[in-house]
Amino acid sequence: MFAFFSHLLKTPQLTGAVAPSSRHLASAMVRAIGEVRHVVELGAGTGPVTKELRRRLPNASLVAVELQPRLARQLRSRFLGLDVREDLANEVLDGLAYPEPEAVAVVSSLPFRSLPQDMREVTTASIEQFLRRIPGSKLVQFTYQPRPPFQASADFRWHKTCSVWRNAPPAGVWVLQSLATG
Ligand SMILES: C[S@@+](CC[C@H](N)C(=O)[O-])C[C@H]1O[C@@H](n2cnc3c(N)ncnc32)[C@H](O)[C@@H]1O
Repeated sequence: MFAFFSHLLKTPQLTGAVAPSSRHLASAMVRAIGEVRHVVELGAGTGPVTKELRRRLPNASLVAVELQPRLARQLRSRFLGLDVREDLANEVLDGLAYPEPEAVAVVSSLPFRSLPQDMREVTTASIEQFLRRIPGSKLVQFTYQPRPPFQASADFRWHKTCSVWRNAPPAGVWVLQSLATG
């Protein structure tokens, strides 16, 4: 909690939330993934979604991406053996490769509506490119707004899986998939 609020005060544009994700939101996000063997978590922050991913998908490979060094360090010490990348989400996605052509779930808590515009643009472009590159893959993203988390390209489709009222503030869980390969 302390780590979350100290980062909120220092970097409000990157944090973009007033409180850590509740376990109800974390659970709804992991439910939206379904069964997959590979997961990438973007903006893992203080780790509530990471915890649920580890609990519900113990056999899936998991890469957790967190830009802020202190939060990345905390994730490493809380989740022993976890592959934590202290880097920009777009850099990690552009460099990820998997041995088999199997669907990957990208689960994101990135605050697209508050990110600086240039960061938002490169990140959404990398996500779309990743989903095009690995057929059957999807992005799971929450938002506090009543509309999709960001405007996707014409070859993608958003759908909302649920609303989570037990979160501050309440949030919607959305899934983005490619129309060509999703
Ligand atoms: C909403 S907060 C964390 C949410 C997390 N579920 C929690 O409850 O702690 C979003 C996180 O994304 C990270 N972040 C923002 N922009 C990023 C980027 N471009 N690449 C990687 N991480 C980023 C921030 O440092 C922040 O920890």
